[in-house]
Amino acid sequence: MKLRSRHLLGIEGLDRSEILTILDQARTFREVLDRTIPIVPALRGRTVVNLFYEASTRTSTSFSLAASRLSCGCVNFSKATSSVSKGETLLDTARNIEAMGVDGIIIRHQSPGAPHFLSQHVKAFVVNAGDGAHEHPTQALLDAYTLREKLGSLNGKRVLVVGDIAHSRVARSNLLCLARLGAKVAVCGPPTMIPPGIEQYGCEVFYRLDRILYEVDVVNMLRVQQERITSSSFPTVREYRSLYGLTRERLRKLAPEVVVTHPGPVNWGVEMDFDVADFSRALVLPQVTNGVAVRMAVLYLLAGGEGEVRS
Ligand code: NCD
Repeated sequence: MKLRSRHLLGIEGLDRSEILTILDQARTFREVLDRTIPIVPALRGRTVVNLFYEASTRTSTSFSLAASRLSCGCVNFSKATSSVSKGETLLDTARNIEAMGVDGIIIRHQSPGAPHFLSQHVKAFVVNAGDGAHEHPTQALLDAYTLREKLGSLNGKRVLVVGDIAHSRVARSNLLCLARLGAKVAVCGPPTMIPPGIEQYGCEVFYRLDRILYEVDVVNMLRVQQERITSSSFPTVREYRSLYGLTRERLRKLAPEVVVTHPGPVNWGVEMDFDVADFSRALVLPQVTNGVAVRMAVLYLLAGGEGEVRS
């Protein structure tokens, strides 16, 4: 089955079977990544552009690698060294890049809805790599992939998303994705970081971490989004850590089968103590590895790849 839309703008627009189509396709590509020569000719002759208006380490590198593993060209655009500083608009930039012949535009932008806007004005397919505090669909897909690899079906699994829910596009995409895969999701954070109406996503809300932490199968920690916070959401980092941080003490008390995820970058010592890095059930780096396979799947399905996957 192919995807209904030509674009990947958010988890919002995907139904359960489309999510599973992407995850199944990603499994094929994950196996490619373990080969001595991890490359297939599936998108030979195609080109995508990474149009990043916000900082990124993992996501932009992951999309570039995903493209190159599919034999697809990838041009990296960075806002800092582009004509954006001369006042060029998003639409102009995109149309000019498209005029050079790209098949897909992967966009990260500080404004929610920027990928949706672009998708209405260009012929290329558009992938949302994070739009403001709105959605980050490929992060949710790679999180789901990693959890399914570790835990099997997510149906009935209890997932707790902790931290800055209000400013996190990862939280929003994960709430939608996990619910569609049948997980029971709860969120926890300070009241200033829990947006009103969050229950409409079908999740329970907790304000005290110790009240719910020891009852779940998965703990998804979030970064405090300092760059999106306009007024102080908590008194001190020390207080945040003690109330909402995955500290060494809390880690010790987790049941042996519980797994921990974080999209990165981690503010060590704020939302997680450094001990989590050595914790055997922390999936932070497997998430990053799987991200390449998931993004290969997304590019392959959107570009309508018909080339040989298995060379
Ligand atoms: C996330 C993002 O940019 O939204 N990072 C990522 O893509 N891996 C999460 C974050 O910045 O906190």
